Amino acid sequence: MVRKKQFEKPLYGDKESLRFATPEPIARYRAQRLKCRVLADISCGIGGQTVFFAQQCETVYAVEINPKRLEYAKQNCKMYGLNNVKFICGNALDPKVIEQIPKVDVVFSDPFRPPEAEERQVSCLEPGITDVLSAYREKTQNFAFEAPPQIPPERLPYACEKEYISLDGQLNRLTLYFGELKQHDRLAVALPAGDGLVSKSLQPSPVRVSEKMKLYAYEPEPSVVAAELIPELVASMTEAVGPFTCGFELFRVDKKRLLLTSDSLVKQPMIKHHYLVLNVIPFEPRKIHEFLKDQNIGNVVLRAGVKPEDYWKVRTEIEKGLKGKKTVHLFVKNGTAILCELLFQE
Ligand SMILES: C[S@@+](CC[C@H](N)C(=O)[O-])C[C@H]1O[C@@H](n2cnc3c(N)ncnc32)[C@H](O)[C@@H]1O
Repeated sequence: MVRKKQFEKPLYGDKESLRFATPEPIARYRAQRLKCRVLADISCGIGGQTVFFAQQCETVYAVEINPKRLEYAKQNCKMYGLNNVKFICGNALDPKVIEQIPKVDVVFSDPFRPPEAEERQVSCLEPGITDVLSAYREKTQNFAFEAPPQIPPERLPYACEKEYISLDGQLNRLTLYFGELKQHDRLAVALPAGDGLVSKSLQPSPVRVSEKMKLYAYEPEPSVVAAELIPELVASMTEAVGPFTCGFELFRVDKKRLLLTSDSLVKQPMIKHHYLVLNVIPFEPRKIHEFLKDQNIGNVVLRAGVKPEDYWKVRTEIEKGLKGKKTVHLFVKNGTAILCELLFQE
């Protein structure tokens, strides 16, 4: 038995179940959003999400196919002093399990994701979303599911809300909301701060792509990128600086990284990092080193597609002998180094 420390009270569970347990800030956020009288968590695992549902709801039904995990879920609820959870061991799609659950306000499922699946697909989930929607249709119209956040909105075959969540600047969860729980088409959330950005019914104009870096660079929260809300993000930044200032353009660093760039400076909560662009020079470690020395910079955070085995070699070559106190972030696009200083010290 292992106990997971990222929770206020470390949870009981085996190593694998703890790895899949919902991180506490997300579990708390989701429990707030799904707060209701009676909720069924029908693939509850060791109860990482169940405990927070039980803090918000009058009654929670917790179903789990694996008896050992259900025992951990009971232990975790007990540790949190909760006695409003009814535990059911069995297959959530088995009619004998379904008949033990009354009409509820919300059905939630965080299904099992086979780790071997190469491309993340909703069809790989267990229990399947379509099966749950059909099996529980007499119990409620309000469903929420967790799905792999790597799946883009257009690959989700449901007319539901798609909520992408980043935690501490990393993409972490995707929740799908059905029935009255659906409030938007897409939503991006950044936790633990709790800031958000929603899709507009009238889609804002596409963002111009630029090959040239301007005075400032902006790195969006990964949930904004995953939810395909860059046009909405740019619309909100443009609104903040006013229409008569410089616009915001999209600068693709590589396949995985994108930045926004502008000569205007604006602080936006769904921007993970705001940067002042210090220099754009050829990606030659010696030239970069000289520039950094002149600027009193001591540390470099490499944000480039450098192979993991080369990372420390390149970083040491660039940083060797630097004594300055400042740190720069270094992006590389097509052999060009973009050296950026973090603003606002987020
Ligand atoms: C990702 S885990 C749930 C994690 C949980 N939300 C937490 O935060 O601890 C998915 C769970 O679904 C369970 N499961 C898979 N198929 C099931 C089924 N048909 N009925 C009930 N539980 C099922 C698995 O045993 C696994 O424990």
